[in-house]
Amino acid sequence: MMRMAKRVESLPPYLFVEISRRIAEKRAKGEEVISFAIGDPDLPTPAHIIEKLCQAAQDPANQHYPQAGGLPELRKAIASWYQRRFGVILDPDKEVLPLIGAKEGIAHIALCFIDPGDIALVPDPAYPVYTMGTTLAGGKPYFLPLTRERHFLPDFESIPADVLEKAKLLWLNYPNNPTGAVADVDFFNKAIAFARQHDLAVCHDAPYTEVAFDGHHPVSFLQAEGAKEVGVEFHSFSKSYNMAGWRIGMAVGNAAMVDALRRVKSNIDSGIPLAIQHAAIEALRGPQDCIPEHNAAYQRRRDLVIETLKSIGLEAETPQASLYVWARVPEGYNSADFTADLLDQVGVAVTPGLGYGQSGEGYVRLSLTISDALLVKGLSRLAGWRNTRRLTVKNRK
Ligand SMILES: Cc1ncc(COP(=O)(O)O)c(C=O)c1O
Repeated sequence: MMRMAKRVESLPPYLFVEISRRIAEKRAKGEEVISFAIGDPDLPTPAHIIEKLCQAAQDPANQHYPQAGGLPELRKAIASWYQRRFGVILDPDKEVLPLIGAKEGIAHIALCFIDPGDIALVPDPAYPVYTMGTTLAGGKPYFLPLTRERHFLPDFESIPADVLEKAKLLWLNYPNNPTGAVADVDFFNKAIAFARQHDLAVCHDAPYTEVAFDGHHPVSFLQAEGAKEVGVEFHSFSKSYNMAGWRIGMAVGNAAMVDALRRVKSNIDSGIPLAIQHAAIEALRGPQDCIPEHNAAYQRRRDLVIETLKSIGLEAETPQASLYVWARVPEGYNSADFTADLLDQVGVAVTPGLGYGQSGEGYVRLSLTISDALLVKGLSRLAGWRNTRRLTVKNRK
């Protein structure tokens, strides 16, 4: 009998399995399920980026193993973009590392910091990879609850001293998935002071800085004074340029952290396909009209989602950024019940807040990455949800 490593067993069960199973079951029966569950941009990668990708793919020079540290030209394009967009100066050779998507770097950086028994401070609710990376490296997450009362920002003061002694990494993510919350430079200043005080490395995950509404411009962690001394920022082409399927992102900031991640990665992967790196250069250097265009579409969808949620008596804050609406479930439900009820009664899929951590209980997440036509149909189903409740209750009597 083969015996798997304990680390595989230590991976928590994937909490969206049950909902995915039910969606598949309904679809197999021929029922149409409208899904607000996935954060994968529905609109295509802009044409000029795809053109570059195809051209580059045909050039034999791009058909070899890439360098582990990415094309120097890509690192330069990333550094220039950070300067243009955030006023942040980066050394393209020492402070920039292209990744096979932000997720890859997020999972691998745990190997640079976490030894068995070490702790990573992880927001709750959060994108699950901060916890998974920590667990795979043999460490433990300590969860920092994000609550509406604190505008979904963690309370550093509440972390016990014995936890801080073992903590090596602090994870942050703004604009936030799943809550849609944003942070300002002042918050990052506090995080830097806290990290200095407790010898923590900060990892700020920032794939949503370009997805923003109502004229809001999310900030970079690196805009805060001294950020580069304590941390890195992860960024991605997935959401800014609808390139989720091409798998490309970057880590930027502290040179020692970037170097450690490059060393770990160079022993695991062999870099990003060169044609995709050329497409990413085009994304950063080419026309940027796609960003406001995408944001206008998301903002329109956001407003429709919020309006519908209100009409059925559900509370949700209007997000200024990110692809998500974080809505409170109705009285008498938990996040799993409500998710199941929406699916069963009106054929609408959302993600249960508990899937993002204990503090996500009481919420569901709706993604704005759904085509306008399906959105309208899905929202009209949602609007009818209360009526189905009354009918079911009546029928039961
Ligand atoms: C908070 C957060 N970080 C990282 C990622 C992954 O980005 P990438 O596609 O670059 O791996 C996502 C994707 O949904 C995300 O929501």
